[in-house]
Amino acid sequence: MKNIILIGFMGTGKSAVGRRLAARLGREFVDTDEEVERVTGKTIFQIFTRDGEIRFRSEEALVVKKVAARENLVVATGGGVVLNPENVRLLQQNGVLIGLVADPEVIYQRVKRKRNRPLLYGPGDILARIKELLAARADAYAVAEFTVDTGRYTIDEVVEIIITYLKERGIV
Ligand code: S3P
Repeated sequence: MKNIILIGFMGTGKSAVGRRLAARLGREFVDTDEEVERVTGKTIFQIFTRDGEIRFRSEEALVVKKVAARENLVVATGGGVVLNPENVRLLQQNGVLIGLVADPEVIYQRVKRKRNRPLLYGPGDILARIKELLAARADAYAVAEFTVDTGRYTIDEVVEIIITYLKERGIV
């Protein structure tokens, strides 16, 4: 059974949707950010600030390799996983890539109070940073074969939309 891989920008709901989708399908759920934190014993924030983004990306790629070697999972990826073409290649081998999207303002409302996303906090405006990163990453997220706008639906509705798509294609 193919893995179901959720991709998309920070704050599009990958973890929340993924957890519920996995429960609905009776599958194991894996969150690549949580795996990186478990393996390294550090938070994402600590890895970025102490070791740097390059180190984070290499830990993330190791987690992706392990996940892609398994099957029957629902996987929530970190928002930057698809920036590495090798990650995409591995995940596509045995998985279906589902994209979650949301408007920048919706993302902003969801992420503004959480201080756990180092790429969004620096000098300057968070909303502007979100827009800038979304534009820079548009091509990377376009690898999804099916996309849902999570700003328009509840989590349960998003889950049902994804399941309908997967059933139509005989994937679940
Ligand atoms: C990142 C997204 C984060 C996390 C890290 C980098 C990104 O995951 O992996 O802060 O580059 O978009 P979420 O998408 O789960 O917030």
